[in-house]
Amino acid sequence: MNCIRKSWTLDPVAQNKIEEMSNNQPSFYVTTPIFYVNDAPHIGHAYTEVAADVLARWHRARGEDSFLLTGTDEHGEKVLRTAEANNVSAQGWTDKLVHDAWLPLLETIDIDNQDFIRTTEARHEQNVQKFMQKLYDTGFIYQGSFKGAYCVGCEEYKNKGDLVDGTGEYEGQEVCAIHSKPVEQLEENNYFFKLSQFQQPLLDFFEQNPNFIQPESARNEVVSFVSRGLDDLSISRSKEKFDWGIDIPWDDSHITYVWFDALLNYITAIGYGSDEAKFEKYWPATTQIVGKDILRFHAVIWPAMLMAAELSPPKQIFGHGWLLVGGEKMSKSKLTGIAPNQITDIFGSDAFRYYFMKAIAFGSDGSFSWEDLAARYQSELANGFGNLASRTIAMVNKYFEGEIPSPKDYSDADKNVIAVAQKAVCDSDAAMQQVAINEAIAAIWTLVDELNNYITVQEPWALAKDEANRDRLATVLFVACEGLRGLSVLLSPITPKATAKLWAALTEGKLGELADQILQDAGEWGQLDKGIKVSELEVLFPRIETEK
Ligand code: MSP
Repeated sequence: MNCIRKSWTLDPVAQNKIEEMSNNQPSFYVTTPIFYVNDAPHIGHAYTEVAADVLARWHRARGEDSFLLTGTDEHGEKVLRTAEANNVSAQGWTDKLVHDAWLPLLETIDIDNQDFIRTTEARHEQNVQKFMQKLYDTGFIYQGSFKGAYCVGCEEYKNKGDLVDGTGEYEGQEVCAIHSKPVEQLEENNYFFKLSQFQQPLLDFFEQNPNFIQPESARNEVVSFVSRGLDDLSISRSKEKFDWGIDIPWDDSHITYVWFDALLNYITAIGYGSDEAKFEKYWPATTQIVGKDILRFHAVIWPAMLMAAELSPPKQIFGHGWLLVGGEKMSKSKLTGIAPNQITDIFGSDAFRYYFMKAIAFGSDGSFSWEDLAARYQSELANGFGNLASRTIAMVNKYFEGEIPSPKDYSDADKNVIAVAQKAVCDSDAAMQQVAINEAIAAIWTLVDELNNYITVQEPWALAKDEANRDRLATVLFVACEGLRGLSVLLSPITPKATAKLWAALTEGKLGELADQILQDAGEWGQLDKGIKVSELEVLFPRIETEK
């Protein structure tokens, strides 16, 4: 597959070609936004990371070549000002934050990323310059003058409509609707990208690729925004104002606008300008996960940049909702940020991942509450899943000296469990393809609920009292173990630590590694019929004493 087009003609044939190339893409490439290093991460950032990681792990479990990219956005005025306020160089500050806060976040919430890109790395800076030069040489960049508002918090030029009346100390001033702080008035000679030229090509692209922007509400918002017309975009800042960015290659009195620099991480990390084979393997990205506050950058500016450079836009931009506190977007600048380890220190990383993916419909806003987290932990993870696993294994130990018994004739109740398991595999997979992560987990949970119900009704402890029921007892415990095997595979992308423990206790290494199981085969019944000896299973979700 070749995703680099010879020319950008903006006609339907070319659009179809992009789609055709996209459909032939065999790998799964998913990205998170790259995070500003002006501060340490909070659970809103971790939410984006976990969602992308769950998708990447899911597709890897399907046997796809799955690549998760994340990283840090290190240039710009916001980061520079923070460094200055802390009396350190910008590079010193970003190095410290990356090593002390952002890389450790990946451990805290158990992210299995294939790369981590920093925008201060040479592999990024050099290829940003190549990209810029290409757009300049092909006439998509020109010099002009900019006069208008800029929010350093958003690192974004603002129109009148983006501002609201300030309150409290900012009463009487216009402030950024997201940060509730006054914007700056800029007047600079800058370089501009001819974004206005891409209005129609973008609208055509949206129409021909209905899944490009998801969810539907995000798509509608972007389509109506682009329909109203696009202004050209200032893509440089004068070094007279500040100097923390990538030099404009043909004019070293300017640096690249931080968003133009940052967006390009998605291609510089996979070899744009340096490793064509790798780039062709992974680009266009399968899905790019972003918060809804940065949707326009990704669904408007980013595809236009790529079109200008004769590259395919990504296949999908998915805009998720916000974690809210008191009805507002949770943020450090508003002092509502909660550090991820405040949660994982108590509940563990699996519970963090499960809770945020299950409790909030992916694409909608959701409020975090300690009470809801603690209640779901206890009822869904500890009682629902953990207990099911521990009592099933305990009964195999108790009644069959640890050896998973072979099943005899299947009753209707047994067949029903098998049917539920197979449906859970299909439904969860279908939901994950739609990035409906919470629906996928709900589909998996039908199997947790069914197994709990099955054990309650079948009463293996009662069957065990009469030797005449030995065959029936064997079948019931075999069915329960098989259900757990399926659950280990299906839940491994969401709760990797707990499922690894369960897999080890349940399979004695006889079915290979959990990571090598093929997700689509999780419902294939009878895999444990190999005289396997279960081992002790430590409590997967221990009881938590918390006053929170
Ligand atoms: N650096 C830019 C992104 C550049 S991508 C080319 C940026 N960084 S950020 O650190 O401010 O935000 C990164 C991500 O965290 C965004 O997707 C943002 O939506 C997400 N979140 C920040 N606060 C959030 C919540 N309260 N809730 C959910 N996600 C939130 O923007």
